Parts: sequence; structure tokens; C-alpha cells
Amino acid sequence: MMCPGLYVLTQFCCLISAFAFPFGPVLELDVTPRITVTINGLLGCNRFQGLAVNYSTLLLEDEAGMLYVGAREALYALDSANISITHNNTAIDWAASAEQKRQCLSKGRDNQTECYNYVRLLSRYNETHLYTCGTHAFRPRCAYIEVERFSFVRFEEGKDKCPYDPSKGYTGLIVDGEMYSASQYEFRSSPDIRRNFPFPNLRTEEAPTRWLLEADFVGSALLRESINSSTGDDDKLYFFFTERNTEQSPYSSQTKVSRVARVCKGDIGGQRNLQRKWTSFLKARLVCSVPEYELQFNVLRSVFVQEGPSVHDTIFWGVFGLEWKNFKASAVCRYSLIDIQAAFDGPYMEIQDSKWREYTGKVPDLRPGSCITDQHRAQLINTSRDLPDSVLMFVRRHPLMSTEIQPIGRRPLLFKKSVDYTRVTVQQITGMDGKSYNLLFIGTDEGWLHKAVEIGDRVHIIEELQLFKESQPINNMVISHKQRSVYVSAASGVVQVPFSACQRYNSCYDCVFARDPLCAWDGRECVKISSYFDKSNLTQDIQMGNRGCDDITADGLVSHRSRSVMVGDDVLLQCELHSNLAAPRWTLNGEQLQGYGTDRGYRTGTDGLLIIGAQSRQGGHYRCYAVENGVWVPICSFMVRVQPAPPASPHLPTDPTALPERLFTTTSVIILTPTIGPTEQPLHSPPAALPSGPEFQTNRHMEAMYISLVAVLGGLCLVLTVVLLYVSFCAHSCPADRKYSQQGLSVSTVTERKRSSNIELKTISSHCNGRADMRGRAASTDGAFLQIVSGESQSSPDKEVPPAPPLPLPPPLPATEFTNGLSATLPSVLRKMNGNSYVLLRQADSEMTSPLYHSFTEELNRILEKRKHTQLDVEPDESSV
Ligand SMILES: *[C@@H]1O[C@H](CO)[C@@H](O)[C@H](O)[C@H]1NC(C)=O
Ligand SMILES: *[C@@H]1O[C@H](CO)[C@@H](O)[C@H](O)[C@H]1NC(C)=O
Ligand SMILES: *[C@@H]1O[C@H](CO)[C@@H](O)[C@H](O)[C@H]1NC(C)=O
Ligand SMILES: *[C@@H]1O[C@H](CO)[C@@H](O)[C@H](O)[C@H]1NC(C)=O
Ligand SMILES: *[C@@H]1O[C@H](CO)[C@@H](O)[C@H](O)[C@H]1NC(C)=O
Repeated sequence: MMCPGLYVLTQFCCLISAFAFPFGPVLELDVTPRITVTINGLLGCNRFQGLAVNYSTLLLEDEAGMLYVGAREALYALDSANISITHNNTAIDWAASAEQKRQCLSKGRDNQTECYNYVRLLSRYNETHLYTCGTHAFRPRCAYIEVERFSFVRFEEGKDKCPYDPSKGYTGLIVDGEMYSASQYEFRSSPDIRRNFPFPNLRTEEAPTRWLLEADFVGSALLRESINSSTGDDDKLYFFFTERNTEQSPYSSQTKVSRVARVCKGDIGGQRNLQRKWTSFLKARLVCSVPEYELQFNVLRSVFVQEGPSVHDTIFWGVFGLEWKNFKASAVCRYSLIDIQAAFDGPYMEIQDSKWREYTGKVPDLRPGSCITDQHRAQLINTSRDLPDSVLMFVRRHPLMSTEIQPIGRRPLLFKKSVDYTRVTVQQITGMDGKSYNLLFIGTDEGWLHKAVEIGDRVHIIEELQLFKESQPINNMVISHKQRSVYVSAASGVVQVPFSACQRYNSCYDCVFARDPLCAWDGRECVKISSYFDKSNLTQDIQMGNRGCDDITADGLVSHRSRSVMVGDDVLLQCELHSNLAAPRWTLNGEQLQGYGTDRGYRTGTDGLLIIGAQSRQGGHYRCYAVENGVWVPICSFMVRVQPAPPASPHLPTDPTALPERLFTTTSVIILTPTIGPTEQPLHSPPAALPSGPEFQTNRHMEAMYISLVAVLGGLCLVLTVVLLYVSFCAHSCPADRKYSQQGLSVSTVTERKRSSNIELKTISSHCNGRADMRGRAASTDGAFLQIVSGESQSSPDKEVPPAPPLPLPPPLPATEFTNGLSATLPSVLRKMNGNSYVLLRQADSEMTSPLYHSFTEELNRILEKRKHTQLDVEPDESSV
């Protein structure tokens, strides 16, 4: 019974170690967004939501100031300056007829999802018209739209241009009156890259070598390589997709591979061979991997084309995921056109003994797969129809290049665990230091937008923004330099997000820590640098994110509070940090508290310091600092006096007049929220490098989380396993949890999940530190209590509740429960902090011993799938007894 369980445990170990060890550079690639902004905190966003759903096709015409949007059964023309302005918006209804929907249903299609008209293509056709295609309830149609009146003028058959299935990968573009598209158009047909018009239409070859295998297309681009070409080269079209892998690969468990394919725009097919087929089709593998851990991101999700000064400077940005559907991880890799060209000029592959191998034989003089160049013309070969048969025969059998295309820097620019990125767009911004920075906007599968800046060889995520209330994948994104906006679409609507929201940062350090190339501190507030002509008084530090703010000696604005507590009380000193990158540091009487272990009577979390069973030696002056980029920013301070326990019954309320402050009984957990007070004692000499400014961080959310102790898990593989199992079963209980580990933990997948099911320490009091405090209004929070609840923390009405019992500690884990010796290494904190953990571990344990699992991937999927569906409904404490 134990064996399968152990087998699986070992497998988990391997995965976790791949992510967690050693503490090398790869971990730094897993970037934590500095600030988390939920939907109510968004600034300056405009929304568009018509009557339709499934907004997925975006066509931005920046010059004209128009954003055209294709949705389900509707098209919209929006004002790109502000997509919310309704009076300028016009719409076209484009529903499939009732008869068409009936036929769709009779084909066995789902009338809730498939039997609608989903707009898949929306493109400029000529100066006066747009061209659009839709799935039209499983019978694709296309149409011309007159832009002036924004109405249809003519319809066309669409079955060769648009897939039947709304969820099938598809890419299409119209250039110079020519339409190119790529998809698996019908359910049974093979995937195909086509030129749809003008005549002659071209396709990919299927025999003797299939050029495409179950390809899932995500993007395409035309690059005008003929401009200034010394060889008389042609313009080319690039297609990006993921397909079934038939090559040998070092990652044998993977069945998919990401590719780029290209064809020449001037291709008109062959004469006898490859008639009506591409004569210039070539494809190559796109690699996006973390070599140290043999972690290959093999599923391409989307591509963004970043134009450079010349066409050869073009950069392709790709968003990649793993093949394991339920295991979230993403990488952003980018490729230079030069490297792609080099692969297409390199050696070919060939099938030998039913395996792909590098072809080492003779290659025809006129390079197969190349466009018609001056070299061809010199031999009187003017078009692809004039190509000799030897070249065309070679092309048929050698669609694949041997050279793998490595990303710039040979590794992902960004690597993110527990997030599925769907889209990326990039804009170059010049910072005040005169350097050019790539500003990245990356969409997630849950409707969030990450805004990031590339600094040196790494990426700093400035903020993550929740754009949609309901979790839904961001399915398209376009960027406008003119409007300084990103337009983001998803099932429920379109959001226009401004490049920057500098006013969000409310102090000099906050503004500088953000490292937003568009924002700077002007002495009073964080401002957009673009609106300043004279930038000499502005402070910005993108490179280091900590220079330029004045050192301030007085910190009178730091909120202060004093309180007497009883010996044995548990006291939470509340200090929430605004930034996910800041680490909390505490001083007691001017000396830094070292080691917050429970043995020392302290525990620290992202929202405060917990004094466990206060002793008289723990009385004194506490200060909380947010340490970010090496700068200590004071947040709040507390004077805590520990009184000896009264002889009387501890449950009798004490007369509030008997003591200067209210006295709490030993059965309560006391939460101290800071206020600003004139009683602030002069600072004891603070720890080194204290800039000490009138810093104040805004906190809107209250989630008490104690997580640091997982670090103890360190290199203990077995323990990690246990945690992951535990995680698998409880992660869903707090889906909205967006806080991050501050403790430099190496296993953040695990810890982020772990946190979610901790017993939350929820305050009933008003909030500790907010903007109001900063403006000098002393928030007189008095007598706040702490309530212990399980699971998700929510804000709670401001009302008195009876004091909660002290932090309940489940009994120690019986050692006999884990014959494999797990209990010996299980940190006591896990048990203490989380009433569920013990039960969860047991659940996991019994689950593991059931069937035999064949593949690691399968097993992982199974566990993660279960995590989604398992509803945990465990009483926080009793159940663990
Ligand atoms: C359309 O939107 C609905 C939610 O409104 C979503 O469930 C569905 O998956 C979407 N369909 C496609 C093809 O995007
Ligand atoms: C956009 O237009 C809407 C509706 O007219 C308006 O409420 C909103 O303030 C405008 N947004 C901006 C950024 O001007
Ligand atoms: C879908 O078809 C079922 C019958 O198969 C019908 O009851 C239902 O109303 C239809 N739904 C829509 C949206 O047409
Ligand atoms: C654009 O195409 C439409 C549809 O084919 C045609 O009617 C129109 O005359 C064209 N306009 C121009 C300026 O060529
Ligand atoms: C190619 O073009 C050249 C010059 O335009 C012409 O002389 C030659 O006959 C053409 N060759 C073919 C095969 O059409």
C-alpha cells in the first residue's frame, strides 16, 4: 500500500526540487509583482461592454483614432481615445440566422457555445473597406464593411478562410489586398497555411511529408524584407504555432513543440510539382527553456511583433506555457529575426528510418525554400513556377530546419509560476536617464494585467491589475503609443488601460521603488514625466529603484500607539506593507528583533508581528519598517507595556478607568493598530541605513498570513512533498488571495497556496494605516479585537464581537501517524498555524495509497485537477484534534 504513495512522493520531490533548488538565478526569474491592485483600485481605465459577449478580435487604427472590435454576433467601432464614450460608438449586429442555428444544432453542435457567429477576423481591406470573417454557427461567412457608414456591403463564403470552431487556433491577415490565414479549418481536415486570395490560392503539402501536424496557430506577421535588400529578396510571412512533436527530443515526455514557419509573399506555387502549394515553406523549432532544470516551455500561447528601426531589427515576443494543462507556469521568450533567418539558412532535417535526422547530403544550388532572389533571376527563374523540379522535390521532403531557434539571452526573460500568461505587448519608453526601456503588458488567464519593465537582464513587475471582476482569460491585447493605452479584451468586455497611473504612489520612495519609467517624484507627488517640460526637478531611479529621495530625520508622521497588555496575552502589532516586495523588519527598543521563531515568542507575517504569550521582557517600544531595495521605511510604532496578571478571575471585564489603557484578559488576542500620536518617543538609534522619511504605506486589505516558516523547510525534500500535497487540497479555498511571500522563500508555488488556507487573523477594527493617517488625521482606533476565522479573509463591518479564545493550538501530531517519519521533520508551525493542516495531510496520505500511477504528468494533473474540485469544509480547529 505504501509503495505507490512513496513513488508519487518521490516524483513530487523531483518537480519541487526542479523549481526550488538550488537558490540560483532561475528563481530570480520568478518575479513577484510589486503592487497588487484589485478592480476597485484601478485608476483611469475606460471600459466598453456592448450587448454581446466574447470580445476577441481587435483592430486598432491609431491614426484614425479608431478601435474596431469583433465579438460574438456583433462588431463595434469605438473611439480609441476613450472607448467608453458611447455616443460615438457604432455597432453592427451579425447574428447567425435561426435557421442556421437550427442546422448547427442538428450537426450535433452545442447551441450554448458553438452555434453562434464568433468574429475571428477583422482586418483593413482597402482605403474604404474592412474585411471580416465569423464562424457563423458552424458555417463560416466573410463580409466587407464600408467604414464610413460602418455597415456591411457584401457577404462571401468563408469556409476556406475561417475555422468552423470558435475555439480553434486561428490567425489571419490581409496585406496589399491579399489574404493569408492559418488554422485547422474543419474538424476532420488537416491544419493548413493558406493564401485565400487573390488567385492562385496556395496551401501546405500533406504527402509524402506532412508539413503541419495538428498545428494550433497563435499569430502571424508580414515582414517587408524586400526593402533595401541587397539580394533582391522577397517579403515574407511568418506563422507561429504549436504542433505535435515527432522529433527526438531531450524532453521525451513532451508531445508538443513550438514553431515558426515562413513563406514568401511572391510565391505562386510550382508548375508540375507543388502545384497550388507553397514552394517556400520552411519551419523551425522555437526553444523556450530553463536549461538548468530541463524545464521546456513547449506550448506557444501568443506572439507579439516588436518592430525595430529596420525590418531586420524585428523582435518576436512569445508567451509560452507547459503542456501540463493543470500546472500553471509561464515564460516570456523573445527571438530576433536574425536568429530565425539563420535557422532557415541552416541545415535541413529529413525523415530517415521513420525518424527526423539532420540531412547531410547534397542540397540543390538554388537554395530550397528560399524566395526568388537576384540569384534566381540571373538564371532566368522569375517566379516559383520556373523553379527546377530538383528544388521542388527537395522542398516537399524537407520542411523542417535542424537548427533550433534559441531566445535572446538563451533563456526566458521572465518565468512565472502559478500564473498562466496569455498575451504580451511591448512598448519602448525612454526613461529620464536617457535609456530606452521595454515596458511589458502581460495578460493572464484570470483577467489580470501585469505591467513590467525590463531592467538589465531581468524584469521588474511594477504592478498587477485586476481588470475583470469575474476570472476570465485575457484573449487579445493591442497597444497604442498615440493614446498611451493598452486595450485588453476578454469574454465580458474591453478595457482601455492607461500606460501609467503614477498618482497611485504616495511618497517619494513609493514612486522610486515602483521603477516605472513613466513616473517620477516632483517633490510633492508622483507624476507622469511626459506632462513635464522641465524634468530637472523630477526624481526617478529605474536602475536601482532606491536613489534620489531625501533622507528625512524626523518621522513625526509615523503612526504611534501604546497599549498595556497582560502577561500571557497574544498581541498582534499590525503593520501592513503596501508593496509585495517590501520585507517587514521590527525593532524593539531600537534593536532589531532577530529571528522571529516561536521559541522566541514572536511570529511575523505580512501584516504584523504576533507576540505569543507576552512576557514582561517583551514590553517596550516596537517599530515596524518596510525594507525595500535596501531602504528602511518606518511604518508604525507601538509602545507595549506588559502587566502582571491580576489575581482575580480573568474573565471579568476590567474597569476601563482603572488603567490608562484598556486591559485585556488573558483569553483574548489583542490586535494593535497604529495611530498617530503626539506621545511618540524620540527614536532610539535605528538600525543601519535608515533614511527614515515620512513614509506611509496605504493598505486596503486585511489578510493576516503567517508564512515565513516554510523557509525552515529548506532543502528537506520530504517535507516539501508533504506541503505540496497539503497544498493540493486546500489551495482553492482562497482563490482571491493575492499576497506574496516576503521571506524570500524558494518555494513560492507552495507557500502562496499554503497561505491561502491558513487560519486568517481578521481584525474587526478599522484600518491601521491609510491615506487619512498620512494626511495627519489621527485615526483613533481603540480596543480592536482579533477574530480567528478559517479560510478567506474578508472585510468585516465595524462592530464589537466577544473576545475570541486565544490562538488554538491543535495537539501535537502523534508520531505514529506517520510511520515514514514525516512528523519528525514537520515544522511545528504548520500544525500550530493551521488547524487544517493535520487533517489535510491525512487526507492526502490516504489518497496517495490508492491506485498506481503511470506517468508523472498524469499524476500531477490528477492531483491538481482534484484540487479544483475538492471542496474542503473543515472546521478550523476541532477537526484537527
Ligand atoms: C465566450 O464567453 C463565455 C463567457 O461569457 C465563455 O464561457 C466562453 O468560453 C467564450 N467562448 C469563446 C469561444 O471564447
Ligand atoms: C471616458 O468617457 C466616459 C464616458 O463619457 C467618462 O465617464 C470617462 O471619465 C472618460 N474617461 C477619461 C479617462 O476621460
Ligand atoms: C438549445 O437546444 C435545446 C434543445 O436541444 C433547447 O432546449 C435550448 O433552448 C436551446 N438553447 C438555445 C440558447 O437556443
Ligand atoms: C475597396 O473594396 C471594396 C470591396 O471590394 C470596393 O467596393 C471598393 O471600391 C474598394 N475601394 C477602393 C478605394 O478601392
Ligand atoms: C524572366 O524575365 C526576363 C526579363 O524580364 C525574361 O527575359 C525571361 O524570358 C523571363 N524568363 C522566363 C522563364 O519567363
